[in-house]
Order: sequence, then C-alpha cells, then structure tokens
Amino acid sequence: MSSNPTAIQAHGVYKRFKTGRTHIEVLKRVDFDASHGEVTMVMGPSGSGKSTLVAALSGLLKPDEGKVRALDQDVWGLRSGRLDRFRLDHCGFIFQGFNLFSALTALQQVEIILKYQGHSKKVAREKAANALMEVGLETKLNQRPSELSGGEKQRVAIARALAKDPRLLFADEPTSALDGENGQIVIKLIQRAAKQYGAAVICVTHDPRLEAYADRVIHLEDGRILDDRRVDHTPADPGPHANADADHRQPALIGA
Ligand SMILES: Nc1ncnc2c1ncn2[C@@H]1O[C@H](COP(=O)(O)OP(=O)(O)OP(=O)(O)O)[C@@H](O)[C@H]1O
Ligand SMILES: [Mg+2]
Repeated sequence: MSSNPTAIQAHGVYKRFKTGRTHIEVLKRVDFDASHGEVTMVMGPSGSGKSTLVAALSGLLKPDEGKVRALDQDVWGLRSGRLDRFRLDHCGFIFQGFNLFSALTALQQVEIILKYQGHSKKVAREKAANALMEVGLETKLNQRPSELSGGEKQRVAIARALAKDPRLLFADEPTSALDGENGQIVIKLIQRAAKQYGAAVICVTHDPRLEAYADRVIHLEDGRILDDRRVDHTPADPGPHANADADHRQPALIGA
C-alpha cells in the first residue's frame, strides 16, 4: 500500500463496445486506485483496454458499470457541465499525438487553456511562459507546431497539461513518437509533476524503459488487471553495497 493520499479510486469498471451484432468486453470490472505524488504506470498488450481505462478514469468515456471517485468526487455522478469543469480544473492530459492546434504558437497553446480556466490575459500569458520555460522551450514561444520537432511538440503538450497545476495527470503513450533521448526528457518532466507538485500521474506506456520512473506498475491484459506491483527505489544511495544493491534493486522490472 502507498503511504500517499489516494487520488483516484475505481471499482468494478466495466465497458463494452458494440461491434456489428456482437459486443466486445473491453474492461471486465476493473478495480483501480492511484495516489498523489506517485507515477502509476499502466502496461499491457495492444487492445488490452489501457486507453479505455484511462478514459473512464479521467471522465472522458462513461463506463457501462462501476464507480470512479477522483479527488473525493463521484466522477460519473457529475452532470456534464460539472464534469467538464472538473477536467478543466484538475486534469492534465498528454497523448501520443500531441493534440496541438496547428495555427497557434507554443505560447498560445498553453495560454488558451489558462484563459478557459478563467485567468486574465496577463496572468495566463505569464503562467504559460513559465510553464514553457520549465520544459526548456523559452526560445520557442512563438513557433507553431510545424516549426517544432516531435520532442518539442510533446514538451509543449506537457507545458499545457502542467501549467494549470493539475492534481491528476493522465498520459497515454506520451513517449511513443519520440526517440530515446526525448522520451527520457518527457518522462522526467512527467515524473516531476508527481514528485515536485504532488500530482497523481497515470501513465500508459509500452516502453519498458519507462518503468524505472514508476512507483507502481499495473499490467492489464484482456480487460483485467493481472499484476500490480510497487517499484522500490529506496536504495538509491550508493553505499558500500552499491553493486549488490543494483542486482536486486528492481527485480520486478526484469523480464516484464
Ligand atoms: N469506440 C470503440 N468502438 C469499438 N471498439 C472499441 C472502441 N474503442 C476501443 N475499442 C476496442 O477496445 C479494445 C481496447 O481498446 P484500447 O484502445 O483501450 O486498447 P489499448 O490497450 O489502449 O491498446 P493500444 O496499446 O493499441 O493503444 C480494442 O480491441 C479496441 O478495438
Ligand atoms: Mg491505447
């Protein structure tokens, strides 16, 4: 169990989709929880229901059955306007395809969300510029997506998600379109949202290299959680037994 406060708790989440005359069950009564200050990674084969789970947890896709409590609210009990507001105020989203507006500059991409949230133009601009600085894009504020690299686009998307200081951060394959180096920059920024700002981070990934940044790894297969384990990072202090530690420090990661 985590000693950090629980941010999300879901029970019996069930979702099926109609395909032709039949239904496929995509989430088969999943129980899930995630805590503040932690990176919870969701892994599993393609089609196992990871994106559907994240959508159900984050108020994007209503499950057929089950309950999701997030930040002490019954997410699917909220009326749609309240749910939109909940997402706007508390949830950051980072997706594989960046989801940037092609006509807007980096600064405007971030600013627009803050204006929606009700910040004045001046405050929105300041906060947006700060967020972009935090991800190392201070020299690219006025560039549009077509003038940015993949890694830079993903960093704009992260700045946009983090500028509002979300309590919940949902990332779905945030590094899959990036090379190793840019992937690492991105996952470190995502981890910082948990460690520095106390967000509950739920990150879907196929990339086993990202496990090193997880506090917990959940394996989903065929709509069910098969495995749920904590990653122990405690012996980070290289002492006289550093080499011995390195061998058994993260046994759960090997062969995952
Ligand atoms: N709107 C939909 N209508 C019908 N079937 C859907 C719909 N959305 C998802 N599915 C199906 O549900 C299953 C799970 O999809 P989901 O996107 O959650 O998988 P995933 O684990 O995220 O996979 P990937 O790793 O490829 O992104 C898949 O078989 C998919 O085809
Ligand atoms: Mg997916």
